[in-house]
Amino acid sequence: MAGAYETLATDYDWMFDDDALAHGRAINHPATARLLQRISPTSAVLDAACGTGVDVAALARRGFRVSAADGSEAMAEAAAARFGQERLAIPVLCSRWADLPVATGERFDVVLCVGNSLVHATGRDAMVQALTGLRRMARAGGHVVVDSRNWEKLHAERQIVQIADRVVTRGGRRCVVLYAWEIPDRLGDEHIAHLVFVFDNGGQIEPHEHVITFRPFTIGELRARLELAGLREVDTDFDASRDRYAVVTVTT
Ligand SMILES: C[S@@+](CC[C@H](N)C(=O)[O-])C[C@H]1O[C@@H](n2cnc3c(N)ncnc32)[C@H](O)[C@@H]1O
Repeated sequence: MAGAYETLATDYDWMFDDDALAHGRAINHPATARLLQRISPTSAVLDAACGTGVDVAALARRGFRVSAADGSEAMAEAAAARFGQERLAIPVLCSRWADLPVATGERFDVVLCVGNSLVHATGRDAMVQALTGLRRMARAGGHVVVDSRNWEKLHAERQIVQIADRVVTRGGRRCVVLYAWEIPDRLGDEHIAHLVFVFDNGGQIEPHEHVITFRPFTIGELRARLELAGLREVDTDFDASRDRYAVVTVTT
């Protein structure tokens, strides 16, 4: 995983349209949005898979006290650069989920692991360790939010190639992102995603391909692993017919 994000970091923001850059993306999915509306506006929030910091910056602009972390140095650096440009004083840590509790003594009202990130914890034991690390970052009674693609749906439909729903135009360049999946027969086996960014630099075409591996899970597996990590589900927007879902939990 780590290697792929080290190079993906430079192209990553092309996956966000201007509305998502301004208002965040994963934080607006239903169950996550409900929690963020319900809690105090001064709550301390950690985005533990901050990527290039789009959601954290949006939460800071809403007034939350936010911190950012990511396991990839390049992603953490890209997030820090965004915060610097926007003059947002947001601490950024480069740490994997399982290591967070020793990397910092700070604890949070809400810990986010969103934007389909947990799928990079490869398998049951790694996922329980990651979730345990995230749980330990929350204050007693605090929330941990995890979201995911609906892997059972993707696996059943086997739509191997998908195209982002719009072309993004920025700074004189245009870009469309293609997603091509290598989907093995068993849902729990390693999957491969090819992310192809096709740039149009004023008539000159430049494709960039990034290859990411991951190990999907069912919602049943996620629920069992949340429980093993000491997290109790209190809300979800799971719907078998939808592509994505979030699960909101509290520490037990
Ligand atoms: C799909 S991206 C999502 C980023 C961001 N949340 C978003 O919505 O755009 C997954 C992120 O998780 C990070 N990540 C993967 N495994 C990790 C781990 N074990 N610990 C911490 N971060 C990890 C990657 O570096 C990457 O930035």
